[in-house]
Amino acid sequence: MKVTVVGAGAVGASCAEYIAIKDFASEVVLVDIKEGYAEGKAMDLMQTASLNGFDTKITGTTGDYSKTAGSDIAVITSGIPRKPGMTREELIGINAGIVKTVSSNLIEHSPNVILIVVSNPMDTMTYLVHKTTSLPKNRIIGMGGALDSARFKYRLAEAMEAPISDIDGMVIGGHSDKGMVPLTSHATRNSIRVSEFLSDERLEQVAADTKVGGATLTGLLGTSAWYAPGAAVSALVQAIACDQKKMFPCSTYLEGEYGLNDICIGVPVLLGKNGIEKIVDVPLSDAEKAKMQESAEGVTKTNGLLEL
Ligand code: 2OP
Repeated sequence: MKVTVVGAGAVGASCAEYIAIKDFASEVVLVDIKEGYAEGKAMDLMQTASLNGFDTKITGTTGDYSKTAGSDIAVITSGIPRKPGMTREELIGINAGIVKTVSSNLIEHSPNVILIVVSNPMDTMTYLVHKTTSLPKNRIIGMGGALDSARFKYRLAEAMEAPISDIDGMVIGGHSDKGMVPLTSHATRNSIRVSEFLSDERLEQVAADTKVGGATLTGLLGTSAWYAPGAAVSALVQAIACDQKKMFPCSTYLEGEYGLNDICIGVPVLLGKNGIEKIVDVPLSDAEKAKMQESAEGVTKTNGLLEL
């Protein structure tokens, strides 16, 4: 199983590290445009192999996509991250060109690749890949909801003073500060609805904190987060590589599902060896349906900024 990660910055390198530590891939190739940077990150990570106990081979290359040839899965993290006070949508001008070039280079050398898009604004970047490449829609996956769901579970556990392992919850919709839809009505603490433990007001605060989870960290760190994004991507890669049929909220191209068309937005999907194996239709409350529609309007507006 060969995995390429484009962008050896904090998110890409974290993703590569978590993939290696889980040891399900034979090879991870890191790609960056900064001379020697991917090679250095790869060597540094390989020098943890004997300490962290993995045999995955990590290599790096400065822009030589021939080294990525035959990749089964490729992750696109390249592009500029947010600065404090910025929205993800403000990155589109620079990141769209990068994502278009990178996806083309990857497909040229790995025509059967499954692409995972991380670069922001992620839903729009995922849509861009659909519109500018010939990959089938099951092999184009946007990562945002897995990260947002992890932050949702973190906030729920915090509110209930519960261990994270007791918590389950999912965030669908756009990966944006205003567009996320935390499915509070479905969230549970060890199979019991969280509404049994938390007031409506507290649950609204949990949802609000979840939606600005990325911006909160950007304010603290001065740049976008990387540990949880890297971990979320590595979970998607593992589900595909190990054919787990695992359910995640992922940005995928919709053709009528959830009443939406010609858009990439976060919905529950099953991930396996073919990438997106199924879009799962989960029951939504009227309020959740309305939030999803509003979220889609926001993503469509951002898509309109693309020069396709
Ligand atoms: C985040 O939410 C980078 O969009 C990513 O942290």
